[in-house]
Amino acid sequence: MDVKNRVALVTGGAHGIGRALCRALHIEGAQVAVADLDSEQAKKVAGEIGGLAIGLDVSREADLVAAIEKVERELGPIDIFVSNAGVAFGDGPGGAASAPDRNWKACLEVNLMAHVYAARAMVPRMKQRGGGCLVNVASAAGLLCQVGEAAYTASKHAAVGFAESLAITHKDDGIHVCLVCPQAVATRMIGVDEDTELEDGSTGFGGNDVDGILSSEYVADCILAGIQQERFLILPHPQVSTYFQRKAMDHDRWISGMRRFRRKIGGETE
Ligand SMILES: NC(=O)c1ccc[n+]([C@@H]2O[C@H](COP(=O)([O-])OP(=O)(O)OC[C@H]3O[C@@H](n4cnc5c(N)ncnc54)[C@H](O)[C@@H]3O)[C@@H](O)[C@H]2O)c1
Repeated sequence: MDVKNRVALVTGGAHGIGRALCRALHIEGAQVAVADLDSEQAKKVAGEIGGLAIGLDVSREADLVAAIEKVERELGPIDIFVSNAGVAFGDGPGGAASAPDRNWKACLEVNLMAHVYAARAMVPRMKQRGGGCLVNVASAAGLLCQVGEAAYTASKHAAVGFAESLAITHKDDGIHVCLVCPQAVATRMIGVDEDTELEDGSTGFGGNDVDGILSSEYVADCILAGIQQERFLILPHPQVSTYFQRKAMDHDRWISGMRRFRRKIGGETE
């Protein structure tokens, strides 16, 4: 899809990957709505790119529907909807099941249900208009595993499954689905100041930097190319494809390897 003169809504557009994508879409000639819980920062980003700022909580279906209606009233029909907002909290001290319910719920609501709510509102509209593009930002954790992040990993696996279902069901309606699965990206989510100047592939953040940390700008360019080329799976870290194949070929061996990796980043010796 050519993004020039298209209308795009990006959730989580105030920071990190979403902010970089808003800027990249604007440079390519799209009209962009910057939607975020952090409405002050959304206003700043929208002001910078001549876009529309929307304050919303993506875990509330009514907020998402109201945002879509506002954007369609003010900018026109949405051609590209990017479900990018995401949260992660880490496991509790007792391991994989020990995070409090509120964190599990927030992961499932923001990382999964917000994608469902967006698609529920957008699919009939796009179908009626003959097509559109839904971009769902999951994570490599949705194909593999983020060590120490059981709720995040489970929610991202669910997001991957949902994006597959959407793509399989709605391609014939003219709706293209992009699924984005990066490893580490230099944003607040992994404790990096999002304005840090960083060389792509930088290291230095413990277990997160296994294949290098990418900048938000690089990841945004990958997403843009994926939209333009109508690809399903967008892997800014190409290594993820190999890991995913290894996991599929021998799941038990992959679990053993991940256990060794967990011990290593925890500072334990073999
Ligand atoms: N940073 C990474 O290493 C990494 C790796 C893989 C995938 N991702 C995914 O990329 C996406 C973007 O994350 P990021 O790294 O830019 O992090 P970030 O924390 O910089 O940005 C996340 C944005 O989502 C917004 N947000 C959070 N909850 C919200 C809600 N309920 N309603 C509306 N907005 C909300 C935040 O305000 C923020 O602007 C997430 O889905 C994340 O899981 C990030």
